Amino acid sequence: MNDPIFVKNKIKPFNKIISVTGDKSLSIRWALLASQAKGKSRAYNILRSSDVINTLNCLKRLGIKVKLKKKYCEIEGFGLNKFNNKKQITLNAGNSGTLGRLILGLLVCHDKKIRVVGDKSLSRRDFSRVIIPLKKFGAKFKYKKNYKLPIEIIGTRNPKPIFYQENKGSAQCKSSIMLAALNTKEETIIKAKKSRNHTEILFKYLKIPIKIKKNKKFDFIKIKGGKPINNFNYKIPSDISSSAFFIVLTLLSKKSKLTIKNVNINPTRIGIITILKKMGGKIFFKNKKNYKGEKTADIVIESTDKIKSINCPVSLNSQAIDEFLLIFLVAAKAKGVSFFKDLSELNQKESPRLKLASKILDYMGIKNKVTYATIKIFGNPKLSIKKSIVIKNYLKDHRIFMMSMIAALSFGGYWKLHDPDSIKTSFPLFLKLIKKLNN
Ligand code: S3P
Repeated sequence: MNDPIFVKNKIKPFNKIISVTGDKSLSIRWALLASQAKGKSRAYNILRSSDVINTLNCLKRLGIKVKLKKKYCEIEGFGLNKFNNKKQITLNAGNSGTLGRLILGLLVCHDKKIRVVGDKSLSRRDFSRVIIPLKKFGAKFKYKKNYKLPIEIIGTRNPKPIFYQENKGSAQCKSSIMLAALNTKEETIIKAKKSRNHTEILFKYLKIPIKIKKNKKFDFIKIKGGKPINNFNYKIPSDISSSAFFIVLTLLSKKSKLTIKNVNINPTRIGIITILKKMGGKIFFKNKKNYKGEKTADIVIESTDKIKSINCPVSLNSQAIDEFLLIFLVAAKAKGVSFFKDLSELNQKESPRLKLASKILDYMGIKNKVTYATIKIFGNPKLSIKKSIVIKNYLKDHRIFMMSMIAALSFGGYWKLHDPDSIKTSFPLFLKLIKKLNN
């Protein structure tokens, strides 16, 4: 069943407490690192979405033991680079850029030929960003001229440490190289533009030799590989990117209040909150805690009528990279013109999100001007949609579907949303939670 969903009414005022599902970045990283540890590791609250299930399936194909129980996921690894698949295999990364790029890092010294494939959306995304640096470790690749999937990798038994400069602010690129560095005896050095730092925090927690020096724009990361990783249990906090749909829905709704429990508020992930607060959003953290180096809190949001436009600082781009579609919706209701720049990476996601956002704003009757890397949004504080809007042909990008649903529930109109199944990628419970608020 993947029939379109119709949304015909705005959401009624609500006052609720909810929990969203586990963080996707942490779920995938836990699984990949647990596969490199000797012995059994368990994760609680692991996200059960197709990106994570594909991660577990890829590990199984590589000979790692994986059990997904009701209460936890257990992975039994055999140690660093101890994959034991028999013959040449194909790994399917599905829709997940994170899985596709990070797993290649783990394979740099696996000496069997591995083919990596993905779905239609992933197959149009760029892999040169990891293939080029991973080749320097000594791994060999086969790929088409455009560096897109499917690709083949054969690792080397003697990987060489590298120096790598990451200039896009991409945590996927940085993490792929960090995972490859686990296997080099000497030091790999990474100069990385700021991006989410979950891999660094997990490396520190696992006592992997890592040194990090930070300056304003870049982090200098040194990793010495070769040290065995101990098995570890982990309780995955809730996902700020999934929470973001409900944060924005609450802000844009009338007379509503919401608490979202135990969310990962890693400072490299909360750009959306900084941006929305600058725009006048009422958002607070309660019960702040530290969990194995990651920060968590309950997030409390109240609706507001007074939204200000923003000239969004580019320094917040990487911290909010998956949330811009939602931020654009808030800008649509702001008083004044908002401007977002240096966002060409948005077009490199599961769909060309900057282009599609502009189209959806057009449908909503919101004037906007888009270039390949910027968007200007002319807000309308009285925005109320009366017409029919159809959302289809968006490469089943989960975030486009969910953003459209939030727009429909916030601004009204008659929306037909195709491919609701897309939510399975990152947030299968999304529609159930919407129902809970709409009761
Ligand atoms: C992710 C990094 C980001 C983000 C993606 C998850 C990660 O991608 O968009 O959803 O877990 O490392 P980039 O690193 O390509 O910006």
